[in-house]
Amino acid sequence: MKFFIDTADTKEIKELAATGMLDGVTTNPSLIAKSGRKFLDVVAEICDLVEGPVSAEVTALDAETMLKEAAVLKKIAKNVAIKLPLTWDGLRACRHLSDEGVMVNVTLCFSAAQAILAAKAGAAFVSPFVGRLDDIGQDGMHLIEEICTIYRQYDNFKTEVLVASIRNPIHVTKAAKLGAHVATLPPAVLKQLAQHVLTDKGLAQFLADWQKTGDKII
Ligand code: G3P
Repeated sequence: MKFFIDTADTKEIKELAATGMLDGVTTNPSLIAKSGRKFLDVVAEICDLVEGPVSAEVTALDAETMLKEAAVLKKIAKNVAIKLPLTWDGLRACRHLSDEGVMVNVTLCFSAAQAILAAKAGAAFVSPFVGRLDDIGQDGMHLIEEICTIYRQYDNFKTEVLVASIRNPIHVTKAAKLGAHVATLPPAVLKQLAQHVLTDKGLAQFLADWQKTGDKII
């Protein structure tokens, strides 16, 4: 399973990239706005920090302008993945870019039917938003199960399931059990994955006992 980080905060990306466990980055217009920086500058900086795909989202609504924006974004670096919304125009632009060998992440996916279209359009990634489905009382992880099951039926579906809008470690472990290819995590959730109260308690006990020995390793 690949881990992407869902942020445009370059300080956090640098810190987490140093763990060697980061496979890519996803951004969206809201995360760019939160960074308070110019979009193209942030994406260029992120692409220098990580080798894996860095999703940068278009803001146009029609396919022609999406393709013009994509032309600007893909010039930034080889690892830019063009993020397009799951609309008919987004799918048209996706087909065009995928045919040219450009990596596309089709975002704002909320149904299995939409995910089938993303695969048909040749997307490298489809991003189903699990947290936002949970927020409206639906089952986000059920959607992941449906998409993973459907994609497995067809050898010609090469699209990777990129689980997005993750809110907690349970989303991550459930996505992993279902065989989703990628999880994009907010930095706080990535850090939370390592935490367990019994790990902290056990470590404190081991160190207290070690002190009693008066011994040293180095
Ligand atoms: O980047 C897309 C997605 O992960 C957004 O998540 O928390 O805004 O629903 P959220």
